[in-house]
Amino acid sequence: MSRIVVIGAHGRTGLLLVEQLVKAGDGVVAVIRNPRHMADLVKRGAETVLLDLEASTGPEFAAQFKGADAIVFAAGSAAGESSAIDSAGVRKTLRAAAKAGVRRYVAISSIGASTGMKLTGDWATDEMKDYYKHKRLAGKAIMASGLDWTLVEPGELTEGKPTGKVTLSVAAIPEKPVSRADVAAVVAAALKSPASIGKALQLTAGKTPIADAFKALGK
Ligand SMILES: NC(=O)c1ccc[n+]([C@@H]2O[C@H](COP(=O)([O-])OP(=O)(O)OC[C@H]3O[C@@H](n4cnc5c(N)ncnc54)[C@H](OP(=O)(O)O)[C@@H]3O)[C@@H](O)[C@H]2O)c1
Repeated sequence: MSRIVVIGAHGRTGLLLVEQLVKAGDGVVAVIRNPRHMADLVKRGAETVLLDLEASTGPEFAAQFKGADAIVFAAGSAAGESSAIDSAGVRKTLRAAAKAGVRRYVAISSIGASTGMKLTGDWATDEMKDYYKHKRLAGKAIMASGLDWTLVEPGELTEGKPTGKVTLSVAAIPEKPVSRADVAAVVAAALKSPASIGKALQLTAGKTPIADAFKALGK
């Protein structure tokens, strides 16, 4: 059993990840900012910790990270919110992980953030450009952290059913949607995959069973 801290645990992907980790027998520390969300996490079998990526300090995060085996960053700014937490929040939690002695750090970014994807068409809005700017800054900080990191970079997220099948690639792939349930399953698999350490993984819906996609990373 591992002790996993999930930041953004009440997000749509975060909740699915918490459910999957608890089901697999891991201990989950759910980091949330809204006390009204506590009951939903307790019901799913997680411990809860109230911390805000903007208002809480690095030492407050480090205190809660002590003794964890891994940190997952599944938080993200909502439409209309500042994208600053997407980079500043990651940097704060990277420093806190190092201070607490937690080496494993898995973060959800966005497709193409680490492969230099150009935003075109409907994606080339000012809001998306700002969001990608912060996801890229976060990615650079993660890669320079010296931690055992993995970046999961999914295409557009949907509420679709889990399929257990994806396209997972270190090289750039065409943008396609993927369900949050499959993203959560990929993050859970990354946590158990030493071969995913030090890699930024492009992720869309696809045809490869998740376990096989991770086996292929080790080759
Ligand atoms: N939407 C997409 O199509 C898309 C595509 C690719 C990648 N992604 C990335 O995938 C990840 C998961 O996305 P999602 O759509 O499942 O997430 P989501 O439902 O929007 O949830 C995001 C979570 O982050 C939390 N959060 C935001 N600001 C925070 C702060 N200052 N302190 C603490 N927590 C904070 C929110 O807390 P509250 O519940 O309190 O609001 C929420 O629970 C994100 O990193 C996102 O950027 C999204």
